[in-house]
This record gives sequence, C-alpha cells and structure tokens, in this order.
Amino acid sequence: MDRHGRPDEAPQPAESPGSPKLGLTRRRFLQGAGATMAGAALLRVGPLKTEAGQHDVATGKGIKRFPPTGQKINLKVNATEHEVEITPETTLLQVLREKLDLTGSKEVCDRGSCGACTVMVDGEAVNSCMMLAIDCIGREVVTIEGLADGDRLDPVQQAFVDHDASQCGYCIPGFIISARVLLNHNPAPDREQIKQGLCGNICRCAAYVRIFDAVEAAAAKEAAS
Ligand code: FES
Ligand code: FES
Repeated sequence: MDRHGRPDEAPQPAESPGSPKLGLTRRRFLQGAGATMAGAALLRVGPLKTEAGQHDVATGKGIKRFPPTGQKINLKVNATEHEVEITPETTLLQVLREKLDLTGSKEVCDRGSCGACTVMVDGEAVNSCMMLAIDCIGREVVTIEGLADGDRLDPVQQAFVDHDASQCGYCIPGFIISARVLLNHNPAPDREQIKQGLCGNICRCAAYVRIFDAVEAAAAKEAAS
C-alpha cells in the first residue's frame, strides 16, 4: 500500500484493447524493458569515440573534465567581456557579486524562490542563484547595473523612483529586471498580466501595489513615446 492508500500493484487488465495477448501486466512489461535497457547500457560501457576524442566510460580515462580547482572563462555581462575564474559549481550570482562586484542582484533565498537575484540572460529573466556560471558562456547577461543608459534610467527604473515603489529596496532590482523582461515581451500588459509577469518575485515589505502601479506607468510611458 502506498502513501495514498493504493495497493502496491494496481490490478491490470490481462490485455488492453488492440494489444497482443502477452500474458504480462503493464508494470512487468515496463520492468522488463527497463532491465533490458539497463543491460544494453552496460554492454555499451567501454571505449567510446566522441568529438573530444577516444575515452573509456568505465575508467574515465581520456575524458576531459572541468577542473574542480578552477578555470578561467569569459562571460559577457552588461555588454562587457569579463575573464573570471570559476569552479564547476560556481553560480552566475556568485560571479556577479563576488568577482565582478555587481552587487545589485541580491542573494536572499539562494534557492530560486524569491527572485531577488533576477538578471536577464539572452533577454529572459533568470534566477542567477540557480544558474551555473559555466552555462552562461557565450550568452548575454544583463544586470540591474546595465539597465540605465549612462545617466538616463531605464523607464522601468524611473517609474519605480517616481512611484516610490520600494520600502527596504532589497527585492527591487529583481522586480525591475522582471518588469523590463515583461514589457519587452508584452509592451501593454494589463494589471493581471503584470501580476503574472512578476509572480516569481517576492517583496517581504509587501510594496506590491506601488510596484504594480510603477510597471503600469512605465508601460504607458513607453507606449506614448
Ligand atoms: S536568491 Fe535567487 S531566487 Fe532567491
Ligand atoms: S521593498 Fe523590502 S522586500 Fe521589497
């Protein structure tokens, strides 16, 4: 019996309509198929020829690994190429904050649930605490620091200022990036679409009404310009 109270193996029809009489339950068939595939996979263990060259899957000999001690990579952040040294588990947020001193993106939950670390990667909103730096090679990263055009704030940033749309401000860089991505995809969102577009961002000060007002105002201003 499982945790939902169902029997371990639900009764199966001896045959399903249109299928041959196998004398097998569906579960047994899948178990058998799984074992066969696992066996086939084991048989394939041995020397493999790949683009990276010949290597042995069983021993690991010849496999090119990303060194755990660190490796230099190039990342394009706010239109500038940066050479940074990372290890395989270094996140994009760690690179931004600890290596590039771009501390606008905040670390709050560090598990993809609050949106405080939101940045743009290839034009999409991404939780940078959940993205490995190595996965950003060859991609365009834009942080809150890269949104303004010189001294001219992005219209979303300006609207947040005009509407006093923050209290402690900790969540705001993430909200602004998410709002910028929303307006890039949908220049005239209604209130519900704004809420949906920002639903990955949490404001612990609950400044939501002013935040939504600011995004509405930014959309209206961009539509009028
Ligand atoms: S710190 Fe990345 S989602 Fe919360
Ligand atoms: S303004 Fe404080 S968490 Fe949003």
